[in-house]
Amino acid sequence: MDSLEQHRKWSGEISNLANAFRKSQILFTALEAGVFDLLEEACTAKEIAHKLQYSERGISLLLGGLLSLELITLTGDRYQNTPKASACLKSGGDAYQGDILRHTMNGREAWAALPERVRTGTCPPAVRKRSGEALRNFILGMSNIALMSARECLQAVDLSGYRHMLDLAGGPGTYGITFQKQFPALRVTLFDRPDVVSIAKEQVEEAGLSHRFSFISGDCHVDDLGRGYDLAFLSNIIHSFGFDENARLVQRVHDALEPGGRLIIKDFILDNDRQGPAYGLMFALQMLVHTPAGNTYSFDEIQSWTDAAGFKGGESKALTAQTRLWIVQK
Ligand SMILES: C[S@@+](CC[C@H](N)C(=O)[O-])C[C@H]1O[C@@H](n2cnc3c(N)ncnc32)[C@H](O)[C@@H]1O
Repeated sequence: MDSLEQHRKWSGEISNLANAFRKSQILFTALEAGVFDLLEEACTAKEIAHKLQYSERGISLLLGGLLSLELITLTGDRYQNTPKASACLKSGGDAYQGDILRHTMNGREAWAALPERVRTGTCPPAVRKRSGEALRNFILGMSNIALMSARECLQAVDLSGYRHMLDLAGGPGTYGITFQKQFPALRVTLFDRPDVVSIAKEQVEEAGLSHRFSFISGDCHVDDLGRGYDLAFLSNIIHSFGFDENARLVQRVHDALEPGGRLIIKDFILDNDRQGPAYGLMFALQMLVHTPAGNTYSFDEIQSWTDAAGFKGGESKALTAQTRLWIVQK
């Protein structure tokens, strides 16, 4: 490759990077307008514009954008969802991602403040407070993701024989629900903030498992975590907190577990040289713009907390390219 060719390739790659926001804006606009719900049936641009009461010009151009993203197809003058859009973007699809996408969309304002967050190295706590629809998008978004990862967890770790699991910062309860369905003898105590526990209760009730669940509302740094657990599951929570806060939290979990109890930490755990995975490195910035001290951590860093708390062993497992587990025993 001569240098002109090389420079053209590099500048093309950088241009794609710089313009990536256009793609996400197309996706978010179509999701919010309800385009994917309409495109289960093949429709013309005019029909969609009429049903949504949008301009025909705007819809025609948006549909072109969706075609470029390969989310829809065009046959003659009729557009329709691809199987990917039907599964992930149509309301009620088998792998629906709409809640987590809305949560991502809600993060645009926080990300716009990245230059200031990078300059100061922190973010005021108020930015983290979510309520109403934004909180529901966040918590149900966790469920969109967890529906897949919970099954991957069951494949990666043998959870048979456990009696009582603490699902710390359990969000919508999807992990507890999935594990409980697989192991009916398991009792689950879900700990989270009060407004999140209300959402989790709805989900557990919908799954018909209220009789196997208990709930504790509180702040996991200060309130009693309960006792008598032989399993503690911490999924996607350590990234919300600073290094020392996590060390103290892991100590509190150690104290809440029975001797022999197991702790599973699931997160976007980094390699010890902190050079990857790429998703975990990116996610650290998501924490920079949303939390005062959150970060993504390496196995070595997490082990320093579990060792200090008195846990033994230490096994790392990869669930996906980005999500990994750290497993220890009291
Ligand atoms: C990213 S979500 C993960 C939810 C769930 N564990 C999962 O993986 O699907 C983080 C959860 O931590 C909860 N959380 C954050 N800070 C907390 C605190 N100080 N005490 C209790 N829960 C907290 C949030 O309410 C939220 O449900």
